[in-house]
Amino acid sequence: MTLPKPQPDKSPEKIRRMFDSIAPRYDFLNHFFSLGIDRRWRRLAVKQLLNEKIPPSPILDVCCGTGDLTLEFLKQTKNGEFYGIDFSSEMVNIGLRKIKMYQNNGVPIQLTVGDALSLPFESDRFAIVASAFGLRNVGNTEQGLREMFRVCKPDGIIAVLEFSMPQQPVLSTAYRFYFRSVLPHIGQLLARNQDNAYGYLPESVLAFDEPEQLVRRLQLLGVTDIQRQPLTFGIATFIWGRKKL
Ligand SMILES: C[S@@+](CC[C@H](N)C(=O)[O-])C[C@H]1O[C@@H](n2cnc3c(N)ncnc32)[C@H](O)[C@@H]1O
Repeated sequence: MTLPKPQPDKSPEKIRRMFDSIAPRYDFLNHFFSLGIDRRWRRLAVKQLLNEKIPPSPILDVCCGTGDLTLEFLKQTKNGEFYGIDFSSEMVNIGLRKIKMYQNNGVPIQLTVGDALSLPFESDRFAIVASAFGLRNVGNTEQGLREMFRVCKPDGIIAVLEFSMPQQPVLSTAYRFYFRSVLPHIGQLLARNQDNAYGYLPESVLAFDEPEQLVRRLQLLGVTDIQRQPLTFGIATFIWGRKKL
């Protein structure tokens, strides 16, 4: 029997305040700490999903933050309907500015402030429901996935891109050291915030489901044809599958 891992404080007030306060530096720090690889991960994830044989629209990006995944869908498909939702208005505002700057030729994109635990959309609406680095922060993983499943069309795709821990022992030790002892200090220096967001980051990743647990949760919900792709030595994992008809 595996004991549940102790979880960091994921109260909605704390998480929202934390992302509101780091929002202006979020994109810069994301790309800085990952050496830009986070962009590649989103690009690969979207490419994989667009290879699936389904109409690639409408698309919902859950916990969209500053909209990078939504924008990646737009860049790769050029056409369709795009929705993003996040409960941090500061993150969403930055996303809205990025979308304005991006030449979207009138393609409808809607980023709104809302809760992933109670999505303001009717059931069976989206062809793709995806979340990048979001689910881990949601107060109740089970409920977050249930909502993603609910708003997905039958035979549509549910996808989660999340950090994970590399399995190779030497790499895993080095990565844990960087993640726990280096990143939080630099993060706090560059984006001072009362909730120590860059201390929370490793804590939340280490406490989150391992990929096989996430796969199990999806299977229990009724997601089939689940595929799993470790990215960059397993520092991130992309998991996706279909809502059973
Ligand atoms: C690490 S950011 C990821 C942002 C973006 N998806 C990306 O790829 O960079 C996590 C986001 O999850 C959002 N979030 C956490 N819990 C949420 C909830 N219950 N409802 C909506 N958004 C939530 C936060 O506000 C934050 O913007």
